[in-house]
Amino acid sequence: MSEPESFALLNDYSITVPPRHAVVHSAAEAVTAAETIGYPCVAKILSPDITHKSDAGGVQTGIHTPEELRASIATIQKNIHERAPDAAITGFVIEEQAPPGLELYIGGKRDPAFGPVVTFGTGGTLVELEHDITMRVAPPVSKEEAAGMVRSIRHYPQLAGYRGTASLDEAALSDAIQQVSALFTNRPEVAELDINPPLVLYTDGLCAVDARVLIRPPAAAPALSRPPPLPENLFFGSRIALVGASANPPKKIGYIVLRNLLTFSGTVYPVNPKGGTIFGKTVYPSLADVPPEQPDAVIVTVPNTVVPQVMRDAGVRGIPLAIIITSGFRETDREGGALLEQEVEAIAQEYDIRYTGPPNCLGLQVPPRLSLNATFDPPKSPRIGHTAFISQSGAIITTLVDWSLSRDIGFSAVFSVGNQTNIDFVDYIRFAAADAYTRTIVLYIEEIRDGRRFFEEAAKVTPPKKPVIAIKAGRSAVGGQQAAASHTGSLAGSYEVYEAAFQQAGIIMAHNLSDAFSLAMLLGSEGYPQGNRAVVISIAGGFCVLASDYAEQHGIQMAPPLSDALLAEMNAFMLPGWSRQNPPIDMVGDAGVHRFALTFDALIRHQEEWDIAFVVSVPTATIDPPVHLATEMARFSRHTDKMVVGCMIGGGESMTAGVRVLREAGIPNFEELEDAFRAAGAAVRREEELKKHL
Ligand code: ACO
Repeated sequence: MSEPESFALLNDYSITVPPRHAVVHSAAEAVTAAETIGYPCVAKILSPDITHKSDAGGVQTGIHTPEELRASIATIQKNIHERAPDAAITGFVIEEQAPPGLELYIGGKRDPAFGPVVTFGTGGTLVELEHDITMRVAPPVSKEEAAGMVRSIRHYPQLAGYRGTASLDEAALSDAIQQVSALFTNRPEVAELDINPPLVLYTDGLCAVDARVLIRPPAAAPALSRPPPLPENLFFGSRIALVGASANPPKKIGYIVLRNLLTFSGTVYPVNPKGGTIFGKTVYPSLADVPPEQPDAVIVTVPNTVVPQVMRDAGVRGIPLAIIITSGFRETDREGGALLEQEVEAIAQEYDIRYTGPPNCLGLQVPPRLSLNATFDPPKSPRIGHTAFISQSGAIITTLVDWSLSRDIGFSAVFSVGNQTNIDFVDYIRFAAADAYTRTIVLYIEEIRDGRRFFEEAAKVTPPKKPVIAIKAGRSAVGGQQAAASHTGSLAGSYEVYEAAFQQAGIIMAHNLSDAFSLAMLLGSEGYPQGNRAVVISIAGGFCVLASDYAEQHGIQMAPPLSDALLAEMNAFMLPGWSRQNPPIDMVGDAGVHRFALTFDALIRHQEEWDIAFVVSVPTATIDPPVHLATEMARFSRHTDKMVVGCMIGGGESMTAGVRVLREAGIPNFEELEDAFRAAGAAVRREEELKKHL
C-alpha cells in the first residue's frame, strides 16, 4: 500500500495519523500543498520500490519555508537517484510535522505456523538495534493483554513518567495495539504492517507518522482435517505385532526392535514370511496369521514399498495403532516416496488407524507399567521416571536416553513424533497431560505445522496441570530473517514467534537439553516456587559469593534480611560473629551436619520468610559422609512446602550416595551451582511472564 492508502487503513481503525497530508508530484505542487498543511512540514518519497524510505534518503523533516521545501524535494530526488537509481518515483507525500513525543512501534505479520502476530516496542530508526519488543500470537489481543504488552517492554518506565517527566497516554497505546490486532483479524489480505518510524506517543493521544502495509492475497486455509483425539489407552496395549522382525543380528532394525521388545510386559508377535522362531518366540508369516486376539499395535520395520500392504493387513485386523519406523518416503523421493506416503495416509483413514512416522520415527518407549521399548535404540531402556520426552529427532532421543542413564534421570514416556502426519505434538502432549506417571513434559521441536492448535492445547496443560519445557531448534534461521522487508519481518522471525507463543502458553523455553532436563527435574519434584525470595545455606564462602552472582544473573532475589526472631534462633548455634547478613547464610567451614540440621529447623519455623532454599555442600571432612546431610535435607524438604534445591557440588564418588538419597526423597540435585540458579530462575520467570501477560 502507498503511504496515503496505509494512512486511510489506520484511520479506519481509529489510529490517529497526521490529519493534514497530501500527495504531490513536483516541488511546485508541494509548495502549494504546504500552504494548506502549514509549516513545519515533512516531505517523503512515494515509490513502490522503496521500503525503507529513511535508509534511501527519502525523508526530510523540519521544513519551515517554501524555499526549504523546494530544497528538500531536490535533496530527496538526488538521494534516490544515488542510492536507489532503479526506483520509480511516483510522487511525494507532504504532511504536517508531528510534535516530538516518545517514539514507539506497533507492527504485525502473518506467521506461517501461528497466523497473525502483533508486535509492540520502542521505535524509531534504531528499532532493530534496541530490540525492545514484545509479541502476541493468535490475536485478537484483549484489553488486558494489550496493557500487559505495554508494561512489558524495557523502556516502559519512560511511558510511566521517568525522572519527573509526565506519564504518557498508555490507554491510547493499548487501544492502538488492540486495533492493529483487530485489523489483522478482519483483513486477511494484510500480510505485514509496520507503524515505524515511528508511532509518537504523547501525554494525550498518539500519532502514527508513518505506516507500511504489505498486501498479499490471503493463503487458502490449510486443509488440516485432524483425526479425532487419540483413544485414551492407545499406548497401553498388551499385544504388539512386529512386522519385519528379523533373526539377523546385529544391525538389522527388525532384530534390534525385537530384542528391545523382550522387556515388554505384554505379548509380542514377530511377523516375517520366513516363519520359525526368534528369541524363542514363534514368528508368524503374516499379520493375518497372528493369533485371533487382536494386536493393539503394529510396529513396522519392512522396506518402504511393503508398508502400504502391511497397513492394509493391519486395517483388516482392526489394529488401531501403527508405529512406522521405515524411511524412504517424501523425504528421500519427492515423487515415488510422496505417493507411498499418500497411500499410507489413505489406508490409515480408510481403516481408522492412527500412526507415527513415516519418516523420522524411532518408535516409542513407555517404561512405567509396560516396560515397553518399541524403538531401535541401544539396548538400555530408559529408567522409570516422571518426565515425558516428546522429540522430533530420533537421534536426540537415542543420545538423551544414553546420557540420562548415568544421571539417574528417568522417563514416563519417550515419543518420537516423526513427521507428524497423523499423530502430532498435540496428541502426545494430551496423552502426557492425562498420564498419571507424567509430572513434566519436555519437547524437542523443529517445526510445528498448526501453531495455533498447538498453542491452544499447550496452554490448557501448562498453568493448571503440568510444566511443559521446550527446546526449539532453528534459532540460526533468524539470520535469514534479517533481510525481511519490514521491521516486523526482521524482529518477529520464526524463532521469536515460537518464543512468544511458548511464553503465552506458559511453556518454558530451554536452550539446551541439559537445561531442559534440569528444569524438568526441579519442577517435577518441587513444583513451581511460591515466590522469588531465596535463602542459600552453605559452609563454603566461595560458593556463597558465586551464589549471589548467579542469583542476580538468573533473576532470583535473595530473601530480604532475615527477621530478628530467626536470627536470634540461629545465634544460639552459630559461631560468634557468623555472617548474620543474609544473603547467603554462610555457616563457616567447620559446620557439620548438625549445624545444617539446626538451620533447617529454624527455616522451617520461619518459612513465611522465604520461597526457595538452595542447600550448597562441598566434599569436606566436616560433612563426611555427605549422605547424612542428604538425609537432613530430605527431612527439611518434608517439613516445608517451599522449593528445596540440592547443590551437592562436585559430582565425585563421595557425593554419590548423598545424591541418591536426595533423588529418592524427590529433591533435585545440581552438581553445578549455576545450573541450580538457572533452573530456578526459569521457573520464577515463567510465573512472572504469565502474570505480565494477563
Ligand atoms: N512381512 C514381514 N516381513 C517382511 C515382509 C513382509 N511383507 N517383507 C519383508 N520382510 C522382512 C524381510 O525378510 C527382512 O527380514 P530378514 O532379515 O529375515 O530377511 C525384514 O522384513 C526387513 O526387510 P529387509 O528387506 O531386510 O530390509 P532392511 O532391514 O534392510 O530395511 C528398514 C528395512 C530398516 C525399515 C529400512 O527400509 C529403513 O527404512 N531404514 C531406515 C530406518 C530409519 O532410519 N528410520 C528413522 C528413525 S529416526 C532417526 O532419525 C534415528
